[in-house]
Amino acid sequence: MNMKRDLLSAFDMKDDLEDIVDLAISLKKRRYDYDPVLSRHILGMIFEKPSTRTRVSLETAIEQLGGHAIYLNPNDMQIGRGETVADTARVLSRFVDFISYRAHSSENVAELARNATVPVINALDNKEHPVQIVADFMTMKEKFGKLQALKLAYVGDGNNMANSLIAGAAILGMNVSVAAPPGHKPDSSIMQRSKDLAKKKSTSVEILDQPEDAVANADAVYTDVWVSMGEEAEKKEKEKQFAGYQINDSLMAKANKNAIFMHCLPAHRGLEVSASVIDGPKSVVFDQAENRLHTAKAILLTLHKSRSRGQ
Ligand code: CP
Ligand code: NVA
Repeated sequence: MNMKRDLLSAFDMKDDLEDIVDLAISLKKRRYDYDPVLSRHILGMIFEKPSTRTRVSLETAIEQLGGHAIYLNPNDMQIGRGETVADTARVLSRFVDFISYRAHSSENVAELARNATVPVINALDNKEHPVQIVADFMTMKEKFGKLQALKLAYVGDGNNMANSLIAGAAILGMNVSVAAPPGHKPDSSIMQRSKDLAKKKSTSVEILDQPEDAVANADAVYTDVWVSMGEEAEKKEKEKQFAGYQINDSLMAKANKNAIFMHCLPAHRGLEVSASVIDGPKSVVFDQAENRLHTAKAILLTLHKSRSRGQ
């Protein structure tokens, strides 16, 4: 039997997302003071797309826990010459203890996970970005002392970031309002699953047309780039479609007085967010970035523990 746990989607944390957040908060308090629990453990990191935060946080995290990371560029691997994802998974599983994969296609991430005998971490694909949201919810918990019943407003592209945030917020018992232009709404099956979860918790997950309506009473206002990696050909068209969706001072003024501004980064000042907001006092974007390190450790430890327990 294959005893391992993968992190491919926010829903893979439906029973313990807040526990992982809390573990990350405790790890942050003792940044360099921990046992090398993952001594000699190796993380293989496949990146089909560029990365600053995900790569460096995962690599630093495993090193600080006593292990080591190997950065794998598909152009330098046989996968770049046609070796299958499945065979790559089987081979890497004979060498390494975890695999992280940043991929163009969520099907490839699922295929890798199905064929790997070690835990697989989705380091972003076209559908989700589950490791980022752990840092985001950690940041919200640090700022507000709780997560339950907070309101998260997401304004912009209904992309991988939006999908994972909506699912995560529903899991945590938060309220979510999304404003996205026609044709760029979040994934419908993720929306449905999140709405079902919210119903059980008496919270709400909704899509609205106007950014002003989405941010009303929000505790956190979140946006992401309008043009994700791989969508560069749509840049001109998307920038036109998203023109009314910028987070600026006047939109932030419609949220709660103590609302925070969030962005997974990298950001484009003057497009999805004004410089005055992202560089202003409500912005927590660099806390989110720092928390990628602490949450990367919490994720690795959680997957390792599940594996040792045979879950
Ligand atoms: N937020 C995030 O995942 O950033 P990178 O693309 O730099 O990893
Ligand atoms: N939605 C963005 C997130 C980058 C971290 C992208 O996929 O490019």
